[in-house]
Amino acid sequence: MIRQAVILAGGLGSRFGGRTKEMPKGFIEIDGVPLVERSVRKLIAAGVEEIIIGTGHCASYYEELASRYPCIRTVRNGDYAATSSMGTLAVCAPLVTGDFFLLESDLIYDAAGLFVLANDERQNVILASGATESGDEVYLASDGDGRLCAAGKDRDAVLGPAAAPSLTAELVGISKLSRAALDKMLAYYASDPSLQKIDYENVLAHISAAGEIPVCVRRIQYYAWAEMDDEAMLERALRQVWPRIQENESLHAVRREVLLNPGPSTTSDSVKYAQVCSDICPREAEFGTLMGWCADELTRLVADPGDYTTVLFGCSGTGADEAMLASCVPPDGRLLVVDNGSYGARLAKIASVYGIAMDVFKGSTYEPLDLAALEEKMKSGKYASLAIVYHETTTGLLNPLEVICPLAKKYGLITLVDAVSAYAGMPMDLDKLGIDFASATSNKHIQGMAGIGFVVCRKSELEKQKDWPMRSYYLNLYDQYYYFLETGQTRFTPPVQTFYALRQAILETRQETVARRFERYSECWKILVAAIKEMGLKMLVKEEFQSHFITAILVPETPRYSFCEMHDYARARGFTIYPGKLGNIDTFRIANMGDIRPSEMERFVGILREYMHSIGVC
Ligand SMILES: Cc1ncc(COP(=O)(O)O)c(C=O)c1O
Repeated sequence: MIRQAVILAGGLGSRFGGRTKEMPKGFIEIDGVPLVERSVRKLIAAGVEEIIIGTGHCASYYEELASRYPCIRTVRNGDYAATSSMGTLAVCAPLVTGDFFLLESDLIYDAAGLFVLANDERQNVILASGATESGDEVYLASDGDGRLCAAGKDRDAVLGPAAAPSLTAELVGISKLSRAALDKMLAYYASDPSLQKIDYENVLAHISAAGEIPVCVRRIQYYAWAEMDDEAMLERALRQVWPRIQENESLHAVRREVLLNPGPSTTSDSVKYAQVCSDICPREAEFGTLMGWCADELTRLVADPGDYTTVLFGCSGTGADEAMLASCVPPDGRLLVVDNGSYGARLAKIASVYGIAMDVFKGSTYEPLDLAALEEKMKSGKYASLAIVYHETTTGLLNPLEVICPLAKKYGLITLVDAVSAYAGMPMDLDKLGIDFASATSNKHIQGMAGIGFVVCRKSELEKQKDWPMRSYYLNLYDQYYYFLETGQTRFTPPVQTFYALRQAILETRQETVARRFERYSECWKILVAAIKEMGLKMLVKEEFQSHFITAILVPETPRYSFCEMHDYARARGFTIYPGKLGNIDTFRIANMGDIRPSEMERFVGILREYMHSIGVC
């Protein structure tokens, strides 16, 4: 897994003349997106966690970019005018911790190149294409073992005058390198002051030819890519290369299905593709590191990892609820469960299956809880723990945990929160909210694949469970936590590929931020609510108590309405919707969780309107 990338962006771009006088080459736009920004998006989609950009000329452009992409760190090469690409790489080097992609800033390229390099079993690989005739080629020569031995612009000097055209290998400007190779490059660069203006590819050729570290040339004959050094190259890129890249990449697009059901939610293609990776035994340290990283990042989204930890299981959201309930009620303690919807009722059902002593506090499914009555219960002294759902997915009602959990803490209760359909959908701070345990899943707002359930736990409360008798063997929080702490492994086989998808989903969540995700959801929700009102439909829950994640709509009072027909009508047009889940009130539900865009919600409400019109509702 390649976690870092370095983009060399110090250059003056002087061959462009006026265009790059006050702007770096990387900010030349194609289809409205700067070259470097497109490259950053491709690197994130390829699973890169951190992108280090070595800047120089007009560095402020890159700093502005970094303010929009939290994964970017910029480092300025103060000597950019007197050095070259190797000088910029040298200033980035202190931030490089392991294997990394090295890229030039002025490229457009087919993202397949990153996939090919990442999956090449060799550690140091430089990407090459066949002849481009772009006018500014850098040729690469390799020995019989495919190892780089020379690089340069003079074809005859590099490849030999007799080299057949079909053997031409041109430098693309994308490589995969190890930290060890970088160290060799730095040592050579520092060895001779006359190398100040040397380009990184020549340094690579030197260390490889000298046998210090092998750098292999990976040649893709018809690779679609272009570098932009002057107007003619830009023109060629626009006319010949960009359409090919678009076509190639479109061949990998997954048919879009917009899921307006409340999870599993719509995922990005990059999350789907993250599952396509080499096989690994989950007991390898490398996989343990991946799971540990996921756990830490999941904690970080809602709490301080110093005080909280995330315990992961291969299971659905109900599995996470079950782990939490079976583990977090003290052996002789009594549980108070709040039931104001199907998921609250499910918490009570799970507790009863485990034979946990319990009372149920019933609330309306569509009106706010009676907080005074709930407080009376909590202060009775009978209860050790409180279990409550944060967001009742049945109706879209958001329970005011910012009031309820601090009260529970005041009366000494351990707070167990089903946050399955709230976690990562809106900003939350577990400690401030007074939440000790929160269950969630990989496939709702975090926008990963189904298969991982997890509980974010207050460590001090989790530690107390050390000697409690187990109510469940598989779903035991403390055992799972402690075993992972000791071994870096889960006790039982984890869903390996789902973890790779979760990692990618976390990277994309970090990029979007939970706050902006909530804004996007709210925008979708507003579009939906406006359309519902305009069609004369009614919502079950008052707007001020809604989560913005799901909207329960009362079915129209006409015998012509059929959920199945409406579902099929929407599904045939790319949208999946969901029936209601309340026994006594007939509703249908529209969720806006997951990778859904406001433009898609606009399209959906048009479809809903068409259906409602067809049955005479509007
Ligand atoms: C609040 C809540 N809790 C629990 C669950 C159960 O999750 P799963 O279906 O993944 O078991 C859901 C699923 O929608 C939910 O919304």
